[in-house]
Amino acid sequence: MTAPAGPEGEGGQLTQPGASVSAGRPRFWFPFIAFMAWAVSGWPPIAHGPPSVSRTRTLVTPRMDSPATDTTASVAVDLRAMTAVWMGLDNVPAALAHRRMEEARRSRDMSESRVYGPDVMTVSDRDKGPASAEAPTYFPDHWREVGWEQKARENPLSAVMTIQEMEAAPAEDFSPEMLEAFFTKGRLLFNNHIAPRLTELLATDAKPLVVEYGCGAGRILRAVVDAGYPCAGIDISRTMLRHCARLVPEPALYPLDDAGRCALPSDSAALVYSYAVVQHISRLSNYVTAIDEMCRIVQPGGVLAAQVNCEDFAHGDLDNPDRTENFETYSLHYRAGESEPHQRHKYNEWSGVYIGYGTLQGLLAERGLTIERRYFHTRKKLRGLWIVARKAA
Ligand SMILES: C[S@@+](CC[C@H](N)C(=O)[O-])C[C@H]1O[C@@H](n2cnc3c(N)ncnc32)[C@H](O)[C@@H]1O
Repeated sequence: MTAPAGPEGEGGQLTQPGASVSAGRPRFWFPFIAFMAWAVSGWPPIAHGPPSVSRTRTLVTPRMDSPATDTTASVAVDLRAMTAVWMGLDNVPAALAHRRMEEARRSRDMSESRVYGPDVMTVSDRDKGPASAEAPTYFPDHWREVGWEQKARENPLSAVMTIQEMEAAPAEDFSPEMLEAFFTKGRLLFNNHIAPRLTELLATDAKPLVVEYGCGAGRILRAVVDAGYPCAGIDISRTMLRHCARLVPEPALYPLDDAGRCALPSDSAALVYSYAVVQHISRLSNYVTAIDEMCRIVQPGGVLAAQVNCEDFAHGDLDNPDRTENFETYSLHYRAGESEPHQRHKYNEWSGVYIGYGTLQGLLAERGLTIERRYFHTRKKLRGLWIVARKAA
């Protein structure tokens, strides 16, 4: 009587005469079992997933590498992760690897030049959709892609003051009404954010040099001049500086060179301030250069007052910052106590670096400055933050 039909080697017709039944089975199953064992083993670990670096490293040395570029590791992880999904496993290294693979994929996407809605992309299931989807924007879409010299050539007033009324402003020959609105806003900014710093400094220096980093067409410098302070302006765009020279002739003006440096001497200004500038910078390395250049110019005992975009206080509590990890072209934002980012931000030429408060603190400390004060630019938008830092005397 023949054995019932079954898998090869199990009494079926393909069993070689004389071959033992047990010899065929491991040969067939071994690769599969070995693969499954490897798939759930967690090896090799992901080399470049979304970073989980130590806080110290994040604070002091911003990361400029792009994660998820190690393709060997990601192929291995992809295979393992697909197996995990196929097996329906949860809470095993393979399932974890799958989650991290998805994160790494998103990182790769973010580091490419894809356009995601306005400027913010969220990654957690809780935070679907761009954070600023509701906010109206009064600037052309391509300004997310072009530099500041180009913006200045197209519409300098709108590039500085992005309100509906300025959308149709000309490239030259601005109307008196437009200039009135422009300088009125500049005076308001001066009164609220610059004058208080000068009052503090007056105790030590009667007529300190005041420098604006990213002065544009001189909207705020006009008020500094009117208040009687010697002042200077720095900008990356020569067209902006040309408009500034015409509209506000008094200050000395300094263009930045290709390395992001200007001719102003080190330690020369009692107050360096910057408004609506660094948050437009689209590369972390350029952001660091800008901070470095501002700090270089501040004199010992002097003050840097800079408005930045920062996600770490968006919950409204200035005493308990969240945490941000900055990379060259994007950032990851973590809420207090959470190890997964709740949001990613991809920088572009309009909505640039959202700096981590810890990162900023570290950058300033490395240059001898200590943050003395921080406050929201407006309570309506808790991402705009002023930091006031003093250089060691
Ligand atoms: C929105 S405007 C603000 C101008 C001025 N602070 C004001 O509020 O009137 C931004 C200015 O920053 C300048 N800018 C952009 N990136 C810069 C950089 N990396 N260094 C210096 N200036 C920069 C632009 O050319 C532009 O004049």
